[in-house]
Amino acid sequence: MARPGHTAWLLLAATTALLLASGVTAQDCANATFPAGRSSERCNTLPVLGASLHWTYHAANGTVELAFRATSGSGGWVGWGINAASVGMPGSSVFVASQDPRGAVSVLTTVLESTSPSLTNGTLEFDVPVPPTAEYAGGAYTIYTTVALPGNYTQQNTVWQAGPAIGGSISPHPTSGPNWLSVKRQDFLSG
Ligand SMILES: *[C@@H]1O[C@H](CO)[C@@H](O)[C@H](O)[C@H]1NC(C)=O
Ligand SMILES: *[C@@H]1O[C@H](CO)[C@@H](O)[C@H](O)[C@H]1NC(C)=O
Ligand SMILES: *[C@@H]1O[C@H](CO)[C@@H](O)[C@H](O)[C@H]1NC(C)=O
Ligand SMILES: *[C@@H]1O[C@H](CO)[C@@H](O)[C@H](O)[C@H]1NC(C)=O
Repeated sequence: MARPGHTAWLLLAATTALLLASGVTAQDCANATFPAGRSSERCNTLPVLGASLHWTYHAANGTVELAFRATSGSGGWVGWGINAASVGMPGSSVFVASQDPRGAVSVLTTVLESTSPSLTNGTLEFDVPVPPTAEYAGGAYTIYTTVALPGNYTQQNTVWQAGPAIGGSISPHPTSGPNWLSVKRQDFLSG
């Protein structure tokens, strides 16, 4: 009986298409709004964690002004970074935004030594010519920063994450599902 199976596949395909269409609309990075003076030339909706990357690339000095936004509860943290040597978490230079119980948002910059990093606030493996800042609004953090692209390459291996914090202290993120899929070869020239 080929027909019932065929119909089931068509239904599945139609449902998947609908879900994909609604997902893309709901998370279209081009719709994101920013405070005055924070506009970007390009953006990408990232595939997981309700995240998007917004940036302006300056070829003359090899820097990217960027905003990373990801959804989170007020008691959570989000992070974004570049891994200049490898793919994935260990070795990545990352920006992590979180807030203390009073709602003061701060940004930590750290090189992740392993999958159990020390999260020591320090310098990254590339220049950060403008100190990062972050805000929490509308159920999402936004990290603003400027980075000198490692090696002046316009394609970089990037990572991002979101996880819980307890009393403002960053706790490990889940290691399955969407949190396992948050890596991307990011093209800062074309998006
Ligand atoms: C995003 O913008 C498009 C067109 O500008 C609009 O059709 C769509 O409804 C918007 N999506 C959201 C979630 O606001
Ligand atoms: C980076 O590359 C661009 C384009 O290839 C070049 O014009 C620029 O001088 C380079 N910048 C640095 C800092 O090396
Ligand atoms: C890089 O060049 C852009 C465009 O000319 C400029 O706005 C920006 O301030 C420069 N960044 C640094 C860190 O020099
Ligand atoms: C990390 O250090 C910078 C520079 O000293 C500081 O502005 C920032 O608040 C620190 N981040 C955290 C989470 O303590």
